[in-house]
Amino acid sequence: MYTNTRNALTSNFMPHPDQIPDPALPDLLDDLLEQARRAALHSYSPYSSFRVGAALKLTNGEIVTGTNVENVSYGLTICAERSALVTAVSQYGPGIRIAAVAVANLNNAASPPCGACRQMLSEFALPEAPVVFPAADGQRTMPFSEILPLAFDMKLK
Ligand code: THU
Repeated sequence: MYTNTRNALTSNFMPHPDQIPDPALPDLLDDLLEQARRAALHSYSPYSSFRVGAALKLTNGEIVTGTNVENVSYGLTICAERSALVTAVSQYGPGIRIAAVAVANLNNAASPPCGACRQMLSEFALPEAPVVFPAADGQRTMPFSEILPLAFDMKLK
């Protein structure tokens, strides 16, 4: 539904009544992106030099950020998105819900959230939560349900 932070409001596209865009959404996503960029300044990434930041808007109104923290083992590295998520749960408890996600990097590169981060976020993100991230073709915004359509869970139905 979203292609960038501005299109939903500037195009003539007539949304379904259930999907009427919130007029505050572009400003919210711009603000989240700015906070994600600021978080990326704190990145600990001596092995990849890839500095990533993430900002989560929670349904309680709070914004929580995170950055990637690498480790010499490489495999123990935590991504910016999961770093933000564990901070959000630590600060506000297990009942949090994520209303929007922004990812930024300081390397002028694409960085959609990795699969592990999508799976972790899926326990808390609303299906309609916009996720804005730098993609190969520029900044993209997609609903969470489209970036991870079939998350693992243990429900049989
Ligand atoms: N990284 C993130 O922070 N988020 C992602 O979704 C993918 C990758 C980090 C991990 C590592 O520190 C660096 O980017 C290079 O992979």
